[in-house]
Amino acid sequence: MEAKAIFENVFKIEKRLATRNSAPGIRVYDEELIEIGNIEYRTWNPYRSKLAAAILKGMKQMEIKLGSRVLYLGAATGTTPSHVSDIVGPKGEVFCVEFSERNMRDLMQVCEKRGNMLPIHCDARLTQNYAEDVGEVDILYMDVSARDQSDILISNSKLLKERGYAYVAIKSQSISSSTKPQEIFDEFLGQISAHFEILEQIDIEPFDKGHLFVVLRKR
Ligand SMILES: C[S@@+](CC[C@H](N)C(=O)[O-])C[C@H]1O[C@@H](n2cnc3c(N)ncnc32)[C@H](O)[C@@H]1O
Repeated sequence: MEAKAIFENVFKIEKRLATRNSAPGIRVYDEELIEIGNIEYRTWNPYRSKLAAAILKGMKQMEIKLGSRVLYLGAATGTTPSHVSDIVGPKGEVFCVEFSERNMRDLMQVCEKRGNMLPIHCDARLTQNYAEDVGEVDILYMDVSARDQSDILISNSKLLKERGYAYVAIKSQSISSSTKPQEIFDEFLGQISAHFEILEQIDIEPFDKGHLFVVLRKR
């Protein structure tokens, strides 16, 4: 078996996506651990992670790299954040904002085993509450499934460096269940267009339904 790098610190092992495990021997969800030439990799499930789905659906601009500082909004129990933590490595940081107490409990356990993942128990609408601790970031990642997602993105973009990249999963059902998904996506992109350039729009079906995954760059 061979691990072939497709982006910095993102690999394909046969047909599966994987990251190099920065907490060897430890699983975060139901991923498989594979050892190749003394290096342990974790398979990355696109049905559990929209970033993995976007990569498999052909996302071109992967700016989350070794050493990146990432502000991750909607970290849940740490599935995708843990892969981001593998990618950015020990010199990078992943600030994980999550408001659900239940998810936070599981997230804390993942963060304890990964020195570069920092939990922030807060509503992502209250950017000012963590702005000082986080400082300026290279990457903004958002997967919060909220009606006011565009406002949350704009408020957090204050912490994103100039020309920094944002990766956003937009869930049409969370914004409105009565409007057509494409209309919701268009409206979202219209609302943020003064703040961000839209670089890529990726339909992540069949891995996840009713989502659009977008890559943005701060204006
Ligand atoms: C779809 S899940 C995220 C899954 C995660 N990104 C992953 O791939 O592993 C959405 C998460 O966002 C959280 N969330 C929703 N609105 C939020 C807000 N305003 N502030 C912080 N977290 C929020 C929810 O509690 C939930 O855990």
